[in-house]
Amino acid sequence: MKLLDGKIVADLVQKEIQKELSRELSGMQPRPPCLVALLTTDDPASLHYVKRKVHACHEVGITSRVIQCNPKETKELLELIDSLNEDVSVDGILIQLPLPLHVNLSQVLQRVDPRKDVDGFHPINVGKMFLGDPDAFYPCTPLGIKVLLEYYKIDVSTKHVVIVGRSNIVGKPLACMLMQNAPGCNATVTVAHRHTTNLQEICLAADVIVSAVGKPNLITADMVKPGAVVVDVGITKVADANTKSGFKLVGDVDYRAVSQKVSAITPVPGGVGPMTIAMLLKNTLKSFYLHR
Ligand SMILES: NC(=O)c1ccc[n+]([C@@H]2O[C@H](COP(=O)([O-])OP(=O)(O)OC[C@H]3O[C@@H](n4cnc5c(N)ncnc54)[C@H](OP(=O)(O)O)[C@@H]3O)[C@@H](O)[C@H]2O)c1
Repeated sequence: MKLLDGKIVADLVQKEIQKELSRELSGMQPRPPCLVALLTTDDPASLHYVKRKVHACHEVGITSRVIQCNPKETKELLELIDSLNEDVSVDGILIQLPLPLHVNLSQVLQRVDPRKDVDGFHPINVGKMFLGDPDAFYPCTPLGIKVLLEYYKIDVSTKHVVIVGRSNIVGKPLACMLMQNAPGCNATVTVAHRHTTNLQEICLAADVIVSAVGKPNLITADMVKPGAVVVDVGITKVADANTKSGFKLVGDVDYRAVSQKVSAITPVPGGVGPMTIAMLLKNTLKSFYLHR
């Protein structure tokens, strides 16, 4: 069984970015790339994710700024985004999700300048991704999964990929990316969700299962064909008296049993998570080149 170690691959990607930036910045380039993260809640998980992103930016030489705000209405956030869109020193804008319930998510995501949309959530980028346009900003988590599979030479073309979960940030864009008529793609994709009645049967027919749900032990060994590849996107905090913090992070997959059956699997943590952050850095570099 091969462990698909996202940390190793993310480190390699980050080192490449760091090297590229030190080359760029020793030349004529007047400033490093700049990413601004908008944080609209004091939810500890969001704070934690933003901190990790800021740290990763710092490691590779990307300047980052966190704007913490508590918008009373959508308009406030839209005005803030307008000012960042106009600010020539800002390359990438990241809206940390989830937003407070009273804020209109789709208006906010549509307000970000598509050329600064490093999360790849603006409809223009979603549309370009749908068309297979390489100039689009692709959402970080599915892009990270694709890069991880490529690194470990897991070719999805001609394979049946089952994606469990159809969110706009993971399941749907991953399906769209893997089904493209392009190198490293050409998969036959099935997308399952809450209304899928025969999940076990569908998963058993998969060469590759990607689970992006957020339910521990959703994917059990009796749902996985021997030799399949399993990518676990789910992250759930569960109580664990054996850890110092009193909790641990688990994925959707019953790792212990499933890892006995598969040819390759991602761990949680240390699988898809680090790849998501590495792709955010890559997208920020892409936006930087668009703006200079
Ligand atoms: N590692 C990373 O970098 C990373 C990044 C993003 C997300 N995540 C994690 O990935 C998980 C999913 O995130 P998300 O934002 O995509 O979640 P989400 O928006 O809540 O979507 C979850 C999806 O799972 C489906 N689902 C729920 N119960 C199901 C079941 N019993 N059988 C089949 N499908 C079921 C839902 O179906 P319906 O559409 O029918 O409701 C929905 O499509 C979470 O644990 C999140 O923390 C990790």
